[in-house]
Amino acid sequence: MNILVIGGGGREHAVIKALKKNQSVETVYALPGNGGIAQDAECYPIKATDLDGVLAFVKTHRVDFAVVTPDDPLVLGLVDALENVGIPCFGPRKNAAIIEGSKVFSKDLMKKYGIPTAASETFTDAETAIAYLKNSAFPAVIKADGLALGKGVIIAQNFAEAEQAVRDIMCDKVFGASGNSILIEEFLTGPEVSVLSFTDGKTVVPMVSSMDHKRALTGDKGLNTGGMGTVAPNPYYTEKIAKECMERIFLPTVEAMNKEGRTFQGCLYFGLMLTPNGPKVIEYNCRFGDPETQVVLPLLESDLLEIMQAVHDGTLSPDQVKFKKGAACCVVVASGGYPQKYNSGYPITLPHTGAGEYLYIAGAKDENGSLVTAGGRVLGAVAARDTLKDAVRDAYSLAEGVSFEHAYMRGDIGAKALAALK
Ligand code: AMP
Ligand code: GLY
Repeated sequence: MNILVIGGGGREHAVIKALKKNQSVETVYALPGNGGIAQDAECYPIKATDLDGVLAFVKTHRVDFAVVTPDDPLVLGLVDALENVGIPCFGPRKNAAIIEGSKVFSKDLMKKYGIPTAASETFTDAETAIAYLKNSAFPAVIKADGLALGKGVIIAQNFAEAEQAVRDIMCDKVFGASGNSILIEEFLTGPEVSVLSFTDGKTVVPMVSSMDHKRALTGDKGLNTGGMGTVAPNPYYTEKIAKECMERIFLPTVEAMNKEGRTFQGCLYFGLMLTPNGPKVIEYNCRFGDPETQVVLPLLESDLLEIMQAVHDGTLSPDQVKFKKGAACCVVVASGGYPQKYNSGYPITLPHTGAGEYLYIAGAKDENGSLVTAGGRVLGAVAARDTLKDAVRDAYSLAEGVSFEHAYMRGDIGAKALAALK
């Protein structure tokens, strides 16, 4: 079989490595892939959002199954476009990807179907939003409706910060049309948990839970990033909480999407906060998380391609999805300056990987046969072990073996999870 994977980050590298365990896979094409993915797939420089480019590619290359991983092509309808030319896909269609593409849509869905989430109001006009903020409690959470490269959520500590955020989003359009509507939301507290799930629109099978570390610097300091590291499983996510989430959040969400005529088939990602009043949805994503995938897939015992095909065919069964007992940790090695300005083009030296160790390459390209940096988050160093303690230790040993100029990483990935285990 020839598989097409859309995307070019660490998440896609992890997906490709997992897919290749299936013996029937002959060739994996990655659009655009990256210099590291090129070790595992044939990469072509076609952007994930270039729908016409992808359609032209599949006319000249035999593709038996496609996996669309990033948010923007899903929201743009790439799955619909590929299915229309007869290519079976893993990933939701456009009318279901809206669960991530519009926070106003997902908030209305949760309100309509009684799915626990933060209380919130929607605004389409800056002055009305600002008038509302005058009587709000702080911190208040301001969210741009549409996709905003993971930067569309602002936690405002006071009225001045909130007003600035509203003006940036709605008047100056710092996120473009994504800021035509905003949500102003109640500030929730509690541990955060990421739960990725497979769903074919009938059955929903959660994967092992995980914990992201979003801030740039050790001790949860610095700016928000795409994610500086992850661990799985998340120790706060007990069996009791998992059961409650299944009954009150996961199944109701899948059923709500069906009732709306927007059946979701693919990876549905639940960003949860375990508040003193129970688990609540912070966000939905219509795709695998990055860097959550880098710790979840190394623990997957079952065949990823078979699961993805079952999701597409509508035949998913919980028995098909088995995870190992152990734990995994991913330490992201980033380029100095990220998530703001950073330089690229530094040669990268990689350490040797042993059993249960992976280097998932994200921001790197091939330059005359050697790998050089080409992004903020350059790679994820991952170790999967029997215990979280060992996984964290070995992921750090691996990350410390990576070298390029101005490399940096957080020093405390997994520390909170290890403390919670005690
Ligand atoms: P998102 O871009 O939706 O993942 O949001 C980024 C981060 O903002 C989340 O991971 C939370 O830490 C935080 N956040 C979002 N909504 C809320 C909320 N209602 N209360 C507290 N924190 C929030
Ligand atoms: N790591 C968070 C996300 O993928 O949205």
